[in-house]
Amino acid sequence: MEVTVIGTGYVGLVVGSCLAEGGNRVTCVDIDVDKIARLNSGEISIYEPGLDRLVSHNLASGRLRFTTDVGEGVRTADAIFIAVGTPPGEDGSANLAFVLEAARTIGDHIRPNTVVIMKSTVPVGTSEMVRSEIASRTDTPFYVCSNPEFLKEGDAVGDFMYPDRVVCGVDADETRSRMEEIYEPFVRSGNPFIFMDIASAEMTKYAANSMLATRISFMNQIAELCERTGADVEMVRRGIGSDKRIGPSFLYAGTGYGGSCFPKDIQALMQTADDFGVDLKVLRAVHESNDRQKTVLIRKIQSRFGDDLSGMHFSVWGLAFKPETDDMRAAPSLTVINALLESGATVCAHDPVAMNVAREFHLKNTIDYGKDEYETLIGSDGLIITTEWLQYRRPDWSVVSKHMARKIIFDGRNIFDPLRMEALGFEYYSIGRYQVGSIGQRARSDINDGSSNSSRSNGG
Ligand SMILES: NC(=O)c1ccc[n+]([C@@H]2O[C@H](COP(=O)([O-])OP(=O)(O)OC[C@H]3O[C@@H](n4cnc5c(N)ncnc54)[C@H](O)[C@@H]3O)[C@@H](O)[C@H]2O)c1
Repeated sequence: MEVTVIGTGYVGLVVGSCLAEGGNRVTCVDIDVDKIARLNSGEISIYEPGLDRLVSHNLASGRLRFTTDVGEGVRTADAIFIAVGTPPGEDGSANLAFVLEAARTIGDHIRPNTVVIMKSTVPVGTSEMVRSEIASRTDTPFYVCSNPEFLKEGDAVGDFMYPDRVVCGVDADETRSRMEEIYEPFVRSGNPFIFMDIASAEMTKYAANSMLATRISFMNQIAELCERTGADVEMVRRGIGSDKRIGPSFLYAGTGYGGSCFPKDIQALMQTADDFGVDLKVLRAVHESNDRQKTVLIRKIQSRFGDDLSGMHFSVWGLAFKPETDDMRAAPSLTVINALLESGATVCAHDPVAMNVAREFHLKNTIDYGKDEYETLIGSDGLIITTEWLQYRRPDWSVVSKHMARKIIFDGRNIFDPLRMEALGFEYYSIGRYQVGSIGQRARSDINDGSSNSSRSNGG
């Protein structure tokens, strides 16, 4: 089948190369000239495990190509995926400008009986808006369907190739059979194809992300209570995650959810609810709790050292919003680094893959970068862990101790054992667990809200 993917970002590039691997002839189009030029020269614009091999292999076989000519991509297609961005507008609702622009181009060039597939995450009703936009520019018959994407960055290729399920909102038999043909190579092991109406498919994507975000915020609130009461959130997580009704996923307390999807999708669903006069109280609480959680590390740091951090120097391990990606959109690392800088501190950071993105877009020249994680520690008053990359989990503690000016760690990902840190002579602050305090004793934490230790000076 001739497939065109409009928008060659995280989703479009993964979808396009996986569909090419599945035997289709795929054209990936984007209006970003530089991105397409780099892709045509074999340079992958994002870090995603396994994607470079998939792209180069399918480029070489001729099943995958990249172009900036959206119209040409549309004219040759039997199926068109719209995978452009839907960033938050000022009021939090999904900005549909890119989607509708793509729809207009489709309307100008579409050939008969093409299926237009909404891959971007869009509010209920958007696929119908796309249908109207196309229909306003052509008399050619065409089909529209909603096929939300559930891949997660860091494991996107695996998620697309072996999906838990494929959700598809359709309103015509022809669309259904075209979608079955496209996805046939990826659902062979019995993972279900779930057909439904278009509105329900659009809602399913938002409901899924909202449910996952709810679990995270719930555990972050339980973590705060654990710190006050002397319970350990890691034990609680294991205790409840083994309950089949609950399951173990998305129960890790930390520094709040980030990335390009959860924050914007939760806001967009709240806006949809507002528009329809429904008060999504649970989701509002999830969102507010997450906003507060993003400041948990800076609150702990300022509680330990005071509000004014002038003259202090901190190391940050991890910039990406999660491991195995270089995506820093809404990353918790940005919240803590910007707060440190505003409080007068200097920062040296490391990330295995996201340092270029940080330098180019998010942090520019505001901080220093270490050639490895150990270099960031030289003269450091505190190490802050914001992304749980595997390589940070078993550091050489003798090197860490030698480099740091003060052996203090603020761990936003709970990657170390407090008892071991205590034995190694560190002050160790983590999320929802015993804090190994400055006098080397385990204690219930009251360092979370800054109330008890805020009188300490920068000098510690
Ligand atoms: N990133 C994820 O993990 C993920 C997962 C599931 C769903 N989604 C959803 O998929 C959609 C795309 O997300 P993304 O992360 O890939 O975005 P992205 O910003 O990485 O990529 C979007 C691309 O679309 C291009 N574009 C914009 N307008 C265009 C047009 N008219 N014609 C051609 N190209 C155009 C942009 O240049 C950009 O390269 C969003 O709705 C997002 O919510 C994302």
